[in-house]
Amino acid sequence: MRTTRVLRVNPHEPEREAIAEAAEVIRAGGLVAFPTETVYGLGADALNERAVRRIFEVKGRPPDNPIIVHVADKDSIYLLAAEVPPAAEELISRFWPGPLTLVLKRTELVPPITCGGLETVAVRMPAHRVALDLIRESGVPIAAPSANLSGSPSPTTAEHVLRDLGGRIEMVLDGGPTEIGVESTVIDLTVDPPELLRPGGVPVEEIEGVLGRVSVTEAARGLGSFSGRPRSPGMKYRHYAPRCRVVLVEGDPVSVRRKVAELVAELTSQGKRVGVLALDGAEYPGAEVIDLGPRSDLRRVARSLFTSIRELDERGVDVIVAEGVEERGLGLAIMNRLRKASGGETIRA
Ligand code: TXA
Ligand code: MG
Repeated sequence: MRTTRVLRVNPHEPEREAIAEAAEVIRAGGLVAFPTETVYGLGADALNERAVRRIFEVKGRPPDNPIIVHVADKDSIYLLAAEVPPAAEELISRFWPGPLTLVLKRTELVPPITCGGLETVAVRMPAHRVALDLIRESGVPIAAPSANLSGSPSPTTAEHVLRDLGGRIEMVLDGGPTEIGVESTVIDLTVDPPELLRPGGVPVEEIEGVLGRVSVTEAARGLGSFSGRPRSPGMKYRHYAPRCRVVLVEGDPVSVRRKVAELVAELTSQGKRVGVLALDGAEYPGAEVIDLGPRSDLRRVARSLFTSIRELDERGVDVIVAEGVEERGLGLAIMNRLRKASGGETIRA
């Protein structure tokens, strides 16, 4: 057990001393959790095999699940990726810095452990001053998965990070709550047509606006279990799940509300404590309700999604019932996370 140092930083103008200290930890092969615009990342020197191995250890992450490499400038892609097709350059110029991760063939510079043994590397340039300053000051690309225990909801505050990883990592840079609240969109450009591996902060419709067709599989929607080798190893594991049971209700808003009310009545009559992730201010007497916001403002819904799941879990409910949204724009990422949190327990209203 070690003590985890927590340094508060101004997210818009990070204190230079804090960044310098954190960069020192990274260069020495240590682990620093830091804010990005999506969620907090657990960073290590991406080129240091031993440092990256510790990421897997402290998260309890399966070794075949590769880690995203974070860079502080667009040109770093040429050091990490052996082939950068025009499609990648277009996406980079349109969406970087930002919540978009590109999967490309890797160069020899990137150690296999960082890429889960694959021949590809996932790269992204985050849109957050703390992340960018840390990468620059460290002088190396930073490998960073979400800074949670493997399988639990991704952290959107430094407190979440400490709850999962406190005492196991050297440092947390606390830059306050993250802006987007769900992780980056991951897109594989080594296949034709490009394939969405994980919906995230950049809606797939916007990527299609640049690339034309993008393949969106059932797995990317968070549906189904699949046999064989998934294209993105991360897709096969249960994810984003609190300790308690999660039930997702899908359908049109009116039917969803009716079904959720029915479930709340049924479960509470069995003596269960029920939490609801509600939308549009819906009320459910007898349940612990957190309103994620209006369906018309999915940015707000995404921002509070993980923190609300953690909150209900901590209040000790037995079951969380979640209202579903339409799979459009950020709705695709939100539904992917909710389906995975529910472990497939989805009801069509
Ligand atoms: O927003 C984010 O992407 C955050 C912040 C910290 O940047 N990071 C993040 O990392 O969510 P992680 O490790 O929790 O999720 C990375 C996802 C996993 O599903 C992983 O399997 C996939 O990206 N991935 C990484 N490298 C890959 C590769 N070479 N090929 C296919 N999938 C890859
Ligand atoms: Mg993760």
